[in-house]
Amino acid sequence: MDGIVLDGMGEKEYLWLERGLKKMGFFSKLSLKNLAGVLPYMALVRFDKGATVCAEGEPGDGFYLIYEGGVSVTKEGWDKPVASLKPGEFFGEMSLLFRQPRTATVRTTKPSRLFALHAKDFARMLKKNPTVARTLRGVAESRRKELAQS
Ligand code: CMP
Repeated sequence: MDGIVLDGMGEKEYLWLERGLKKMGFFSKLSLKNLAGVLPYMALVRFDKGATVCAEGEPGDGFYLIYEGGVSVTKEGWDKPVASLKPGEFFGEMSLLFRQPRTATVRTTKPSRLFALHAKDFARMLKKNPTVARTLRGVAESRRKELAQS
């Protein structure tokens, strides 16, 4: 990861995260108490346009939620991008859930700020929240199916 970790989060980012996470399907079942437990582990990281956040084949070290900006997901052998993801969407879950190398390369398409959750905090959060784990796994499974269609 070649982004810059910003010093602390402002109130605006904190509120966005709290509201956004609650709105997002996979976090909707997360109680406020559990959510508050995750927030302190999330770091806000800034990336320039064109930065590589995840590289296909490398070990997965974290999970990312897009706060500002956007990313493109590409895979070797694909002539078109696999997906474009925007604020409120997430990536980096597949290698962590399936214990495998990064399935694709993820690059910023604009200057971006991402919330990052380290692999071990991600695992801790899922352990405490089986519903979240199931929902995330569902998204990861459908992404895996899309990747198998090349
Ligand atoms: P991971 O394999 O850890 O790192 C690359 C990420 O790209 C992957 O997790 C997913 O979050 C994302 N990704 C892979 N395939 C797709 C897809 N079909 N649609 C959206 N995102 C994807």
